[in-house]
This record gives sequence, structure tokens and C-alpha cells, in this order.
Amino acid sequence: MVNPIEISTQRLLLRPWRSSDLEPFAQLNADPEVMSYFPDTLSREQSDDLAQRCQQLIQQRGWGFWAVEHKSSDTFIGFLGLHVPSADLPFSPCVEIGWRLAKTHWGSGYATEGGRAALQVAFDQLNLEEVVSFTAVANRRSRRVMERLGMGDSAENFEHPAIPPGHHLRQHCLYRITHAAWQVAQI
Ligand SMILES: CC(C)(COP(=O)(O)OP(=O)(O)OC[C@H]1O[C@@H](n2cnc3c(N)ncnc32)[C@H](O)[C@@H]1OP(=O)(O)O)[C@@H](O)C(=O)NCCC(=O)NCCS
Repeated sequence: MVNPIEISTQRLLLRPWRSSDLEPFAQLNADPEVMSYFPDTLSREQSDDLAQRCQQLIQQRGWGFWAVEHKSSDTFIGFLGLHVPSADLPFSPCVEIGWRLAKTHWGSGYATEGGRAALQVAFDQLNLEEVVSFTAVANRRSRRVMERLGMGDSAENFEHPAIPPGHHLRQHCLYRITHAAWQVAQI
């Protein structure tokens, strides 16, 4: 067990999970629009399991997929953070940055704001060499967040092993940002 990192930005708090997050998390995981680039929506049980796994990893490592709280309204709006993918991917081992926000909180720049802060922790605090991000090729919204964060499309598209062959979401794109590129972009 280590001290969990918390990240405060202008509008957001990226923090460990609380039991009060479970209900709004289950709602966003049950929303077909939020989950449109995943094979399916999640049941309440699957959603609770995911939150528990995120929290366990934060307790073990100090970092992970944090719960995102909108500070001025004290509202849980989703998750965002850093994760070591459990799937065996063509570019493993790696640390990914990822996000999932409730639909009502899209279009306000929260993913980009939280993503910048998470990359800062990845490079300045954890001293990672590189952070990757990947998503279904058609997920333009998520790809735009990656691009706004200064990540580059590696053109190394791959078939996600957790999605069945022939499924329209199996083809994924991969974005990368190195520590050196991040530092240059901060100047
Ligand atoms: C991917 C996801 C997090 C992107 O959310 P988003 O709100 O589009 O992204 P941002 O938070 O960066 O917000 C950017 C938008 O906010 C707008 N915006 C409004 N106020 C802003 C501000 N103060 N600062 C920055 N952007 C602002 C931008 O113009 C942009 O709008 P646009 O998309 O119409 O161009 C969201 O769509 C989501 O949770 N999707 C479901 C889960 C998912 O697919 N995750 C990725 C799987 S790998």
C-alpha cells in the first residue's frame, strides 16, 4: 500500500474512489452512447467490479484510473487516468492514459484538462518514458482528446485481442507521447 496520488486541476479533482461514486458510475456505464465504442454496456455488478479494480490498483501503485470529481458541484463525472493494460497488446508493456465521462459532461474540455494533469504526473512524478492511448478507430471524440494532449497517431493500428474477430470495434488505433516530446511541448 502506498499513499494514493490525488490531482487537482482548475475544475477537477482526480481522486481515489468512494462508495458514493458507484451509483453514478453504473449510470454512465449503462448509457449506450457512452459505451458506443465498447462491445457492450455494463451491468451494475460489472460496473461495481470495475470501480473496485480501479480503486485496488490506486491503493497498490498510488496511481491508476482515478474517479473524476467536478469541484464546484462536488459531482462524480467519470474516470480518467493511467493504467497498465491487462491484455497482451502488440506494444506491451506500456502505460496507457484513458477516460470515460458521463455524457452530460462532454463538450466542456474536462477530458483534456484531466488528461494534461495525468500526463504531468506520468512524466514529472512517475518518470515514465512514454504514455500510450488507444481506442476503436471510429472513436473520433477520444482521438481528438489524444491529439489535444499532443499525442501522435503512431499508425500502428492493431486488432484488440479482447474484441472478437470480425467485430466492427476490433480495429484500434494507437497514439503515443514520449517524455521528451512532453517536455518540449511544455516550453
Ligand atoms: C472521449 C471523451 C472523454 C471525450 O469527451 P469530450 O468532452 O469530447 O472531450 P474534452 O473534455 O476534451 O472536451 C472537448 C470539447 O469541449 C469543448 N470545450 C468547451 N469548453 C471548453 C474548455 N473550457 N476547455 C476546453 N474545451 C472546451 C471543446 O471545444 C471540445 O468540443 P468539440 O468536441 O465539440 O470540439 C467522451 O466522449 C467519453 O467519455 N466517451 C465515452 C468513453 C470513451 O469512448 N472513452 C475512450 C475509450 S478508449
